[in-house]
Amino acid sequence: MKILLVGGGGREHAIAESLAKSSHCPKVYCVSELINPGIRKIVSSGGGEYFRGDTNDPSAVVGAALRCSPDFVFVGPEEPNFHGIPDALEDKGIPCIGASKEVAELELSKASMRDLQWKYKIPGRLWYKKFKTFEEAVPYIEEYAESIALKPARQAGGKGVKVIEDFQVYLQDDKRKVKKEHAESIVNEYMKGYDDIEYKLLIEERVWGPEYTVQCFTDGRTVVPMPAVQDNKHAFDGDLGPETGGMGSISCCMNLRYGVEDERAVITEGEYQRSAEIVKMMIDAIQRETGKKYHGISAGQMMLTSVWGPTVIEMYSRLGDPEAANVLTMLKTDLVDICEAIICEDLNKVKVEFEDQAVAVKAVCPEGYPDRRDLAKGHPVSISAPSNSGGILWASAEDTGNGVVTGGSRVVECIGTGDTLPEASARAEELCMGVGLSDGWKLFHRSDIGTEKSILRRIQLGNMAREIYQYRERKGLLGKRMIWIPGKGLMEVG
Ligand SMILES: Nc1ncnc2c1ncn2[C@@H]1O[C@H](COP(=O)(O)OP(=O)(O)O)[C@@H](O)[C@H]1O
Ligand SMILES: [Mg+2]
Repeated sequence: MKILLVGGGGREHAIAESLAKSSHCPKVYCVSELINPGIRKIVSSGGGEYFRGDTNDPSAVVGAALRCSPDFVFVGPEEPNFHGIPDALEDKGIPCIGASKEVAELELSKASMRDLQWKYKIPGRLWYKKFKTFEEAVPYIEEYAESIALKPARQAGGKGVKVIEDFQVYLQDDKRKVKKEHAESIVNEYMKGYDDIEYKLLIEERVWGPEYTVQCFTDGRTVVPMPAVQDNKHAFDGDLGPETGGMGSISCCMNLRYGVEDERAVITEGEYQRSAEIVKMMIDAIQRETGKKYHGISAGQMMLTSVWGPTVIEMYSRLGDPEAANVLTMLKTDLVDICEAIICEDLNKVKVEFEDQAVAVKAVCPEGYPDRRDLAKGHPVSISAPSNSGGILWASAEDTGNGVVTGGSRVVECIGTGDTLPEASARAEELCMGVGLSDGWKLFHRSDIGTEKSILRRIQLGNMAREIYQYRERKGLLGKRMIWIPGKGLMEVG
């Protein structure tokens, strides 16, 4: 059996390892921009081939596929989905694990995702407005003095979202100014270069609660949820610093528990189930809307909010990076069996199982990331722990044939496992310590991911949101927005 993997980051290294472990003993091939040292090892030990190419270019990927005639292709990142790579492959009769362009709209356009949620009355509908230009948004920002999230309407590589709290009346003029300035920079800077989308700016009501992601396999009929994972976007400890592609992620059992034998959890099992049902409703809605089958991965990046309970913040059309490392470490079932079932649309026949364990993943980055990738690039990497033990994944790194150099983004992802999250975090921490740059350039990672303090804080935030949404639920007020008007009492608005 032959499988072609598209993409060369940490997520794809995790996928390659999982595929290589299969009892089908597949030959793994890969196409990506940089030659990932970990994937290269898997490719060459199985006798496959590594193609260097632009993963967003259908002719490059189809060309690679025609050269190796794979049984199927596995697309790792989102941009190839947005660029129609799965469609181009399927046109040539090559089956693909990857969302076709039309269904990947769920991730591409945060505005279309919200439209669909309201049209199909899916729980977790946040108030929103979408705008094609900055000028269109100005009157709205002038008038609406509330806390909001300002977003680029297109998935922009995890950049550009700003949440602005607006509670103090005396600061409202200042807040308006900040909102306007940021809205303008979204349209003019963050959306610059993206001409594949009509709406540029999205304004959402601001909600709060702990965040988590539920990734699912789907063949378009059955939806199989994987363990919930929590990502950490900010560069530095304590959720400080700029947003990154993800500095690390934690998971434990299906519902983000503190430990395998510990009842404390960020979300309850019921909330986990409801989140998976919401992802299924989103998949059903996009399939009905487009008439296209969804073959691959769909994920809900969720928040447990006080307004709705489980609420979609955004959808993904692929595994997260580094969230892939969590779920694939926990996956007990043969990944190739799952892929084949997705292609044959009989995923309901596969029993997909996950290990009850805690997994903490930490990304190690060269200084300069994320704002000055030019400075973070080109430094020689040395790893004292064996890089292929399964504990360390290569991410943005280039195998030059004469050593490995940094690619400018997260260079490796260290995976720790254990019975509790703090235990898993400590193991990942040890692995991070073994990573260095031999020219003396500095690396950084977050040591607080998965620590007792940080998990307990998230569990507590979940408890606070839960108390309120469950109260609303008991009163029949879930998802309803109420105001108190003297003399009239509680009124529903919106
Ligand atoms: N409506 C909202 N209310 C409060 N916080 C939000 C809201 N939307 C997004 N956020 C916060 O901003 C982060 C980034 O937003 P998201 O839509 O996930 O964009 P991206 O991941 O592409 O940057 C979220 O993880 C969440 O912390
Ligand atoms: Mg996000």
